[in-house]
Amino acid sequence: MALELAPAPAPVPVAAGRPRIFSGIQPSGIVHLGNDLGAVRNYVRLQHDYEAIYCIVDYHALTTTHDGALLRVRTREMAASLLALGLDPERCTLFVQSDRPEHTELAWLLATVTPVSWLERTPSYKEKKLNQPDDINHGLLTYPVLQAADIVIYKASVVPVGRDQAAHLELTREIVRAFNARYGETFPAPQAVFTEAPIVLGTDGVRKMSKSVGNTIDIFAPPDVIRKQVMSMVTDTKRILRMDPGRPSVCNVCQLHRHFGPDYEAIWEGERTARTGCVDTKRLLAERIIAYYAPAREHYLELIARPDDVDEVLAAGAARLKPWAEATLAEVHAKMGLR
Ligand code: AMP
Ligand code: TRP
Repeated sequence: MALELAPAPAPVPVAAGRPRIFSGIQPSGIVHLGNDLGAVRNYVRLQHDYEAIYCIVDYHALTTTHDGALLRVRTREMAASLLALGLDPERCTLFVQSDRPEHTELAWLLATVTPVSWLERTPSYKEKKLNQPDDINHGLLTYPVLQAADIVIYKASVVPVGRDQAAHLELTREIVRAFNARYGETFPAPQAVFTEAPIVLGTDGVRKMSKSVGNTIDIFAPPDVIRKQVMSMVTDTKRILRMDPGRPSVCNVCQLHRHFGPDYEAIWEGERTARTGCVDTKRLLAERIIAYYAPAREHYLELIARPDDVDEVLAAGAARLKPWAEATLAEVHAKMGLR
């Protein structure tokens, strides 16, 4: 007698009119300007129109961090940062990845449809092999499979991220196609969405702002630290003398002004005509960043002083997602022939 696969349970219905979005962020230290302008602003904006799920990806962080005590602290700090920047637990679901271990099980199942060659050619894997040559752990290679599982376990169709995640999202779509082709239509192919600042350059003006490079502007740092970071920014390298005209299109300081006031065109004009110098423009940027984030920073400091409240939000988020994650796994088990 031919073995029959158990019928797949009906998929969890998506709340009417509210497609799901998902994004993840690593608990790798204090939140920086690149995170906010490149991704978190979209998390906040999109929570009003979508069933929004946001995850602090501590399993992913283990591929680069091995200090458990620090990871625990940073996970809570990241949660407090996201809440302070405007994630509203009444409007979105915020949780910690390891509180929903179904993600790792689904990652295993997806790994069985993922050719190793796809993972080996992933740009972030190549980069991390160079960055941490003494710790090329297997998690670094399978990192994008876990990322795909994070997204598809909730059948999310939209993923707000910075441009650096585009390759990971393309890989997720390929994994989805491979799974659906082998086992039948199961997951939607998710689409990345970017903000108007999809790649924020760091204080060096050359590389992407990143904690691991050490070129960040830390939005919740004390004002003096922010001033120091902004004043260290590299501007238009061809503007040597104060009287040389500046070129706002290639100056990272000028570009960042776009996000901190409607008068950035006037600031650019001052640079172009050398009426203002780079130092003036940086000073103004520092003060604007400090003022812009001051209310959120205050909120952050309050939240971090009430860790139990933050933990409660995270626990409620993970609990809410349990039936969704379990339902997807049950459907996948049935399709793949697991009992
Ligand atoms: P990570 O800190 O690497 O987990 O990044 C969290 C989110 O911020 C992801 O969506 C990234 O794509 C985004 N992000 C990080 N750095 C930048 C940057 N310099 N410019 C734009 N987006 C960024
Ligand atoms: N790789 C992402 C980053 O470094 C974090 C992440 C993990 C993620 N899982 C995700 C982002 C799912 C979007 C969707 O920023």
